[in-house]
Amino acid sequence: MLPTVEWTDEGVKLLDQLQLPATVTYRLCRNYQEVAEGIREMVVRGAPAIGVTAAMGAALGVVQSPARDMAALRQEFAGIRATLAATRPTAVNLFWALERMNQTFEAAAASGDLGEVRRRMREEALAVCAEDIAINRAIGRYGAALLPAAGEVLTHCNAGALATAGYGTALGVIRAAVEDGKALRVLADETRPYLQGARLTAWELQQDGIPTTVITDNMAGHFLHSGRVGAVVVGADRIAANGDVANKIGTYSVAVLAHENGVPFYVAAPLSTLDLSLASGEQIPIEQRAAAEVTHLRGVPITPEGVAVANPAFDVTPNRYVTAIITEAGVARAPYQASLAALAGGARGQSA
Ligand code: MRU
Repeated sequence: MLPTVEWTDEGVKLLDQLQLPATVTYRLCRNYQEVAEGIREMVVRGAPAIGVTAAMGAALGVVQSPARDMAALRQEFAGIRATLAATRPTAVNLFWALERMNQTFEAAAASGDLGEVRRRMREEALAVCAEDIAINRAIGRYGAALLPAAGEVLTHCNAGALATAGYGTALGVIRAAVEDGKALRVLADETRPYLQGARLTAWELQQDGIPTTVITDNMAGHFLHSGRVGAVVVGADRIAANGDVANKIGTYSVAVLAHENGVPFYVAAPLSTLDLSLASGEQIPIEQRAAAEVTHLRGVPITPEGVAVANPAFDVTPNRYVTAIITEAGVARAPYQASLAALAGGARGQSA
């Protein structure tokens, strides 16, 4: 797979997901404002990829800053973080990455050397990127064991290589299972209104030669009832301390339908997607997006002009519908309050 996000001497390069699958092209972000724009416009999207991009944007801002003393650089860095933080509200990986970069800044600032701060920021952003791929491979290893030896697996949105620095979370689990020799076929929800499933999941699985069938979102119930689907695997944008999961709009419906039909519903996500400061999913901020995403298809209106539209980009799946949460540290099961806290606190492997 092509890299989603790349640090270059000219700036941060983003694989332009607005153009996929028709055209494979990169957008160069020459400063941190352009990086923020790339996240806001969804040139890059998916919680872990947003986190990696924000880390690179933060580093780029500090590297390029004309500040001549630490106080001025610190002040400018606060503005850089605020700009990047104001891009998208739901994926907690964005705020996690900015906090990590802030800690790096402060640790390096103790040296009193501006050059050292700039060098360490760049290094840390590259580390966040490299770690993300390693984390996804670990998630894949834990998750692969949960999938059936053969048959269909349903996924929603795109939680693949494109949504991360590489390999993917939910699609990483599927990739790892296929690498283990499992004969899986993927049912990819198209994921209205933004079509991440139809455009992105189908594209990247096709590149890998993993058999994929795109279905419209309202077909998921039909297929889950058919007995053909062995498991559902999705990603997450934010997971509360009690295991409630915010993910792409439509995930909740899939989870309820999976539960009703006795199909296991797995969530694959790095520990950086946990927000243990939130007791439940009710407190997760849900991004509301432009009406035009619902009223228009590729610029063509599909609704009467002036009709009222709602466009929440995410929903929250209550923990009771989640069979397990697969992280790089192991697999959490209910009660999630305890199992997620244990994994976040350094425990590894399966938790009760
Ligand atoms: O609006 P998007 O495309 O950024 O939403 C992406 C999702 O909801 C993904 O499922 C989630 O971020 C997990 S990506 C590994």
